[in-house]
Amino acid sequence: MKKTLIAACAITMSTLTACGGSSSAGDDSNDDTITMGFAQVGAESGWRTANTKSIQEEAKAAGVDLKFSDAQQKQENQIKAIRSYIQQKVDVIAFSPVVETGWDTVLLEAKRAGIPVILTDRAVDSDDDSLYETFLGSDFVLEGEKAGQWLVDNVADADVDGDGAVNVVELQGTTGAAPAIDRKTGFESVIFAEDSISVVASQTGDFTRDGGKKVMESFLKSEKGIDVVYAHNDDMGLGAIEAIEAAGLTPGEDVKIITVDAVKDGMAALAEGKINFIVECNPLLGPQLMDLAKKVLAGEDVPKRVVTEESTFTQEEAVEALPDRQY
Ligand code: AHR
Repeated sequence: MKKTLIAACAITMSTLTACGGSSSAGDDSNDDTITMGFAQVGAESGWRTANTKSIQEEAKAAGVDLKFSDAQQKQENQIKAIRSYIQQKVDVIAFSPVVETGWDTVLLEAKRAGIPVILTDRAVDSDDDSLYETFLGSDFVLEGEKAGQWLVDNVADADVDGDGAVNVVELQGTTGAAPAIDRKTGFESVIFAEDSISVVASQTGDFTRDGGKKVMESFLKSEKGIDVVYAHNDDMGLGAIEAIEAAGLTPGEDVKIITVDAVKDGMAALAEGKINFIVECNPLLGPQLMDLAKKVLAGEDVPKRVVTEESTFTQEEAVEALPDRQY
């Protein structure tokens, strides 16, 4: 596939300005290697670590020269990284936007420089979809809906203290991030149908284990009769488990826990009975990203949206899946 692409690029070098090594961004070297600038969100979670590994390994396997930066969960760092990739005249820029809004200016700069942009994992909120070629990632609203549906289906069990009210506390992801907004929206849209369920407190834990632990500690002090934790990712759920255990309660029994991701640590906690249900979010986006980048640079049509396929896990399913879990 790579050889075919490079051969095609070599033949049409003078006319196909978007091919790697002869990009319209003005790289005047004769090297056919595709150069990709990737601006990563950070290293906030097990999911993110697996996502970074997938992108780095797959770039190597595909012969793509990857320039990688870690924004430490700050939008200004990502914008700086993208500007530096524009200056370096990379062939293609890919990034996972830390928050949804505020990207139009820098994306317009990339467009004017003739550098195609691919969104991975998270979306941008912009009226102008010509600012990027395609968006590869999960349907976060659907993930929230799956989490809500499990709760509705298990509402009797989830009323741990049997008082007729299912009190949920929500650990939100990074404020303004697409998965935080969408997982909240999806979850609420489904639990709305069940009168006994209500979200009694909701706060950001920034997608980190430490954040989840701290927020859960404060919920345990401020809220009475917590039945369920809905954490927007495994790491915050694992932090909540630490807080629940420190308070002398049994996670998974005294407090039911629903999370999103299904990384190894989350799956181990699910198999052990400390988490009750996990909605999968697949971080292994590297192969599809490299494929899309090659197609875009070869001038081929690509879908504007590529949705990742995902499933869900109960405790029994986690026991079965854990030995083969890749990440
Ligand atoms: O954008 C994907 C989310 O970001 C993952 O669910 C979470 O773990 C990560 O930090």
